[in-house]
Amino acid sequence: MIDGKTKILGVIGDPIEHTFSPAMHNAGLDALKLNYIYLPFHVKPDRLKECIEGAKAMGIQGLNVTIPHKTNVMKHLDEIDQVASMIGAVNTIQFSYVQDNESSNQDNEINVTTRGFNTDGYGCVRAIEEKTSINDKKVTITGAGGAARAVAFQIANSGIDELSILNRNASKAESLAGDLRTNLETIGIDIGIHAYGIDDLKRELSDSDIFIDTTPIGMYPNVDDKPIASADMLHEDLLVNDIVYTPMETSLIKEAKLANATVVPGYKMLLYQGIRSFEIWLGHEAPVDVMEKALLDVLGI
Ligand SMILES: NC(=O)c1ccc[n+]([C@@H]2O[C@H](COP(=O)([O-])OP(=O)(O)OC[C@H]3O[C@@H](n4cnc5c(N)ncnc54)[C@H](OP(=O)(O)O)[C@@H]3O)[C@@H](O)[C@H]2O)c1
Repeated sequence: MIDGKTKILGVIGDPIEHTFSPAMHNAGLDALKLNYIYLPFHVKPDRLKECIEGAKAMGIQGLNVTIPHKTNVMKHLDEIDQVASMIGAVNTIQFSYVQDNESSNQDNEINVTTRGFNTDGYGCVRAIEEKTSINDKKVTITGAGGAARAVAFQIANSGIDELSILNRNASKAESLAGDLRTNLETIGIDIGIHAYGIDDLKRELSDSDIFIDTTPIGMYPNVDDKPIASADMLHEDLLVNDIVYTPMETSLIKEAKLANATVVPGYKMLLYQGIRSFEIWLGHEAPVDVMEKALLDVLGI
């Protein structure tokens, strides 16, 4: 029940009506009987600064950030977590409120600190680690956009041996690889860049352990599209993760099953990025099963 003590979490984006996050988070909050509510907020890009100021003024406890605000919101925050800073995007904001007892103001001012995190890459890595260890593996990623950046930084920091990035626009893949090499200098993994083409992808996948497709290929309504020619480009020792989650079973995932590969559907990354945000805000272990069921229900699965 909402009362005078109910605390507010939410998600900001433009558009926002299709978000699946409220269902997942409210189910988790209800399961733990926490007096919180998670709401969607439609925020236009030119109102982003006012949105963050308004959230502070209203005592909002935490926000998820989605397209198109993930990068622009950073300049409005006090602190940025190291991973989010390397990725160059924030999807989670934690608001901390501290009463300033030293203040000369009789009402004791409240100091608010905003801290930005990126939990997208964490979500992808945790989803994969449910099925296999990432240590010393060769990982191939298709795409070099926003999601690829989050995934690549997290996975390159998780003990892998080799990373291969293929993108249609080669300069974007170069730029991502350059940022990885600069920021993760000490890690010493082998990073290769390739054009996105069927022959290049086939070669890279032949000795890969993990394949993560971060392109929107196969996303509804283009559900017959896939980033590979056919199942024979895959093999049974490969783990295939398509981060597209509409439909739940993309054409790539269907081909991976035909090849007897291990599959990780895209909704798992969505689930675990939310789990991590929940834990950042509440300092409490999230009820994964309850949140997963709510997410699957709202996805219509
Ligand atoms: N599961 C999750 O939690 C989660 C989280 C975030 C995003 N996603 C999904 O991930 C997908 C990508 O999101 P994003 O934010 O990274 O998008 P983005 O920044 O626009 O990047 C898209 C990338 O895919 C490539 N690409 C697009 N269409 C292609 C095609 N037809 N053939 C080859 N390459 C193509 C682009 O290549 P160029 O650089 O050459 O244009 C670019 O590198 C979306 O479907 C999104 O819904 C899922």
